[in-house]
Amino acid sequence: MSLKSIELLALMALIMLLTAWAEQKTKNVSESDKLIYQKVEDVLSRMTFEEKIGQMSQKVVNKIDEKIKQDIRDGKIGSILVTEKSFLTASVKNELQKIAIEESRMGIPIIFGHDVINGFKTIFPISLAQSCTWDTALVKECAAIAAKEASAFGIDWTFAPMVDVSRDARWGRIAECFGEDTYLNESFCAASVKGFQGNNVADEDRLVSCLKHFVGYGNALGGRDYQYTDISDRSMYEVYLPPYKAGVDAGALTVMSAFNDINGVPATANKKLLTSVLKEKWGFPGFVVSDWDAVEQLLNHGYAADSIDAAVKSFNAGVDMEMKSGIAYQLKPDYISAKVINDAVRRLLYVKLKKGLFNKPYTDESRASREVLTAEHRQMARKTAAESMVLLENKNQTLPIKNRSLTVAVVGSFAKEQNIMGWWKSFGDEKDVITTFQGLKNNAPSKVNVVDKITTLTDIIIACVGEEFDTFGEAHSRSDINLPGNQSDWIKQLKKYGKPIVTVVFNGRPLVLTPEKENSDALLLAWHPGTEGGNALADVIYGVKNPSGKLTTSFPSHSGHIPVFYNARNSGRPQSNTYIKELPTPLYPFGYGLSYTSFSYSDLKIISSQIDINGIVKVSAKITNTGNLAGTEVVQLYVRDLVGSTTRPIKELKGFKRLYLKAGETQEVKFDLPASELAVLNQDFEPIVEKGTFKIWIAANSIEGLEGSFEIK
Ligand code: GLC
Repeated sequence: MSLKSIELLALMALIMLLTAWAEQKTKNVSESDKLIYQKVEDVLSRMTFEEKIGQMSQKVVNKIDEKIKQDIRDGKIGSILVTEKSFLTASVKNELQKIAIEESRMGIPIIFGHDVINGFKTIFPISLAQSCTWDTALVKECAAIAAKEASAFGIDWTFAPMVDVSRDARWGRIAECFGEDTYLNESFCAASVKGFQGNNVADEDRLVSCLKHFVGYGNALGGRDYQYTDISDRSMYEVYLPPYKAGVDAGALTVMSAFNDINGVPATANKKLLTSVLKEKWGFPGFVVSDWDAVEQLLNHGYAADSIDAAVKSFNAGVDMEMKSGIAYQLKPDYISAKVINDAVRRLLYVKLKKGLFNKPYTDESRASREVLTAEHRQMARKTAAESMVLLENKNQTLPIKNRSLTVAVVGSFAKEQNIMGWWKSFGDEKDVITTFQGLKNNAPSKVNVVDKITTLTDIIIACVGEEFDTFGEAHSRSDINLPGNQSDWIKQLKKYGKPIVTVVFNGRPLVLTPEKENSDALLLAWHPGTEGGNALADVIYGVKNPSGKLTTSFPSHSGHIPVFYNARNSGRPQSNTYIKELPTPLYPFGYGLSYTSFSYSDLKIISSQIDINGIVKVSAKITNTGNLAGTEVVQLYVRDLVGSTTRPIKELKGFKRLYLKAGETQEVKFDLPASELAVLNQDFEPIVEKGTFKIWIAANSIEGLEGSFEIK
């Protein structure tokens, strides 16, 4: 065969290979995405290196000045981070966007980002509180409302949901996650992503979501924010990564890399997690933004010699956009491969096109006046706040306060506190917040008289205590998680009046409430309930709403017991996993919460008690409302894998359902549990279903319930 024909054959083989590769690459790409990727390649092919670096840079903007406008003209700003103290209105956004579109060489729109965590103008309860509703549909709706409001002000992208599983109540940012359980964080992560992004993220009232902080940030040493984390591969794959996978599967378009060092490699330069796991193994199509200055902080970590080294390491690892420092501007083409830069810019352009920013870069300026802080948004905030509240004690049915001629004294540092919107209150305004005193006064039943001091006429005391908004959240960890200050003593002093004491706690984290348990007749967690907090409290205290909230974190009985969480693994001497003369038993366990009515569980049925590795175990029970008030019960499904190829938690949540029951009503609750949901991760962290015996519970919380068992044969 002549050389010519060999070359020809080789060329044909190469063309066939490339075609197959391209088809493979795009085989599961939708038609619309194919068009987007074509546009991406077109725009990318015309960009200079500096313009690519510009797209990879997010600028924090507190006020508009000529420098910002010139940076936009020069193509140096791919994204603007709007801080809550800043300037933003739709018209200002449009003014800046117009400069980007019409005065920069490439005309690439800016994506405007902001921390829309638990609301924008109408503020909902903090995320940890929202998780206590065990109501994913409600949380999804809250995210959708937040997106509607924020987008009306020109925001395109929120840095939420935060899904860092945390088992350490000292950590201030536990307030921002959905509790200590991975399954719950997965459930609420998917709900939030769908709420923010909707079915089409390009819709004008939707936001691009951002899964954060990737990954394991909640495992901070000693619960001290920003501290390094030592996370075994098993914990990484079983506890911390799954909520992110749930978010990617729900279509989240961005991920934020975390501050923490993970086993010696900072998250923001961790190629194994950012690229191998997130982008390659999971096929994440969006982009990774670093956390605030997290790239620069590689120097503090001792992982980069200088800021150029830090930038190169972060981008090589899989960060696509740097937040705040502008560190990327120092890069030169020969510092970093064109492939790394081009892949990052492809992802950035992909998300901007998915969001529709090229077709509709501007915000309709008429929306804000009619779509923000509306009556229905307030109503949703009120409903969510009431459903997030957790009744921990109610001795002698102190609550609800029904229509009796009572004088109610609403006292304590939180009685008239308006800053009950948590750490990330975005554009929420204290002046819009209904305080506890206002709520109880405005909604009082006719014969109830609400006053703000204790007198000889007082019949019942509402003692409002808690944590100020800046004692939790970012950079606000506490070593001792009792009520701050002398609030516990103050409550104890109230006993001298000889009146029933209803303690209402405005908390941002699990607290040690041992004294409150003893000194209160009723103990109610309000968390930081947001704009409608006072009205929601009135609904619960007056019995308009029967509390249904249940804890998604264990409340320790002593700060020294931390970490305390329900799904720990057993020890070889379970009887002796104690401290001298004390057990680390939680004061209030995961899944716990009282109602004004009562529920009984009966008739556990397991079909069948033997399934194969592809089978489904069907388990049911009857739940009866044995009280005289209608109420909602959060029914939980737990399992325990008695013997595995690795040690297993003593309990694992595998399902939950909210059940509304009228007084005296009985309903059957059913769970179908596929064996695949019981898979363990083998030594390669691949799921395998193992044969063996499982215990199963249908339960009201993590320490009690109807117990049965089944086999996987
Ligand atoms: C902060 C937080 C992160 C937030 C970002 C932008 O440092 O860690 O959660 O989204 O910076 O404000």
